[in-house]
Amino acid sequence: MSSLDILNQVDRNFQHALETVYKYIHKTPMEHSKTLSEMVGGEIYLKCENLQKTGSFKVRGAITKISQLKDRVGGVVAVSAGNHAQGVAYAASLYNMESIIIMPRNASISKIEATKNYGGEVILVDAPFDEMFRRGYEIAKEKNYEFVHPFDDPAIIAGQGTLAWEILNELYDVDTIVVPIGGGGLISGISYIAKKLKPEIKIIGVESESAPKAYKSLKEGRLVDVEIKPTLADGLAAKKLGEVTYEFIQKYVDDVITVSEKAIAQGIYFILERNKLIVEGAGATTVATIFDGIRELFRNRKTVLLLSGGNIDLTHIYRILLKGLSEAGRLVTLEGYALDVPGTLNKITGVIADNGGNIVDVYHDRMDIYSPPGYTLLRIIVEVPSSDAVKNIKDGLNKSGVWMTHS
Ligand SMILES: Cc1ncc(COP(=O)(O)O)c(C=O)c1O
Repeated sequence: MSSLDILNQVDRNFQHALETVYKYIHKTPMEHSKTLSEMVGGEIYLKCENLQKTGSFKVRGAITKISQLKDRVGGVVAVSAGNHAQGVAYAASLYNMESIIIMPRNASISKIEATKNYGGEVILVDAPFDEMFRRGYEIAKEKNYEFVHPFDDPAIIAGQGTLAWEILNELYDVDTIVVPIGGGGLISGISYIAKKLKPEIKIIGVESESAPKAYKSLKEGRLVDVEIKPTLADGLAAKKLGEVTYEFIQKYVDDVITVSEKAIAQGIYFILERNKLIVEGAGATTVATIFDGIRELFRNRKTVLLLSGGNIDLTHIYRILLKGLSEAGRLVTLEGYALDVPGTLNKITGVIADNGGNIVDVYHDRMDIYSPPGYTLLRIIVEVPSSDAVKNIKDGLNKSGVWMTHS
């Protein structure tokens, strides 16, 4: 198919998307962030697609595609680590179609369960993505179902493009939209539609350093296959862009940047604490740019950071919260040796309480072979109101007569 044919197909599908998706999905809110705006010296808005039906934008493309298949096939097949899976299962259920979703065995538990709840038949597979795609196409052929590609399809790209239409309808004077890149369907749709509606707009793509396929492909001027490292942004963990999405990114995306895993965790934590919103790693990469020090790009400009999804396992959130609180100095671990006599714990917890500390966890090991004679190992995790409180607690413990700080 020529590039012109693909653009024509996206245009046709985009009209169909606008007429179809809003029967089933939300126009998601856009929030101004005062703190992020001050941090960059510009105006920062957050587009809350984490609050979309199924928890991510993926449902836009899935409905656009599947609504056109309903009279042709009885079911659809998809391969996905999560959000595309949920989008496809939900969209198929709207048209009373079967959906078979192949997911990696290590996919996030919340995403597997949600896909089943939307009516998807989930097949868990221990195999590389290439092999999962091969199985997906095979099953589709056997059952005479349609295989729904997660990104390299004009209907999917057009559906994701409705986000650009929505953003520009609400904030036409936006200068820049920042968009996460997985296989590239989301940014292809957003950049193509946004530039049609406002040619001077800038579109910036973001990837995790752990899966920098668009960054490397643009740098090397060819479609590059990257090795994926463990990442909080599981939604962006594609090895390679699509043939179609690579072309869109080359033509319509102004720049692609990468962010660290630490900044992604900081982004999740920040949005949770300040905006009371749950955002998954992929969706937080746009905010992570600011924590990685990329601020010049946004100075004196109006920027929309897309929060593309909110489907994150609670165990991940728990760990990120603990890490974030500890980096912010609001959670401290006190480790030392406590005198092994009755009443010691009472004295220690008294010092903590007197200084406003709230105990989160206590680890007490009387069998620790490295403890000095007559002492036991004690590790206490405490939530503290301020750094002064930490100092006062430590001083109080050292003076209590029952505590010896771990050297
Ligand atoms: C939350 C989230 N954000 C962004 C993306 C990237 O989308 P695309 O693969 O179309 O680039 C995905 C992909 O699954 C996702 O789940």
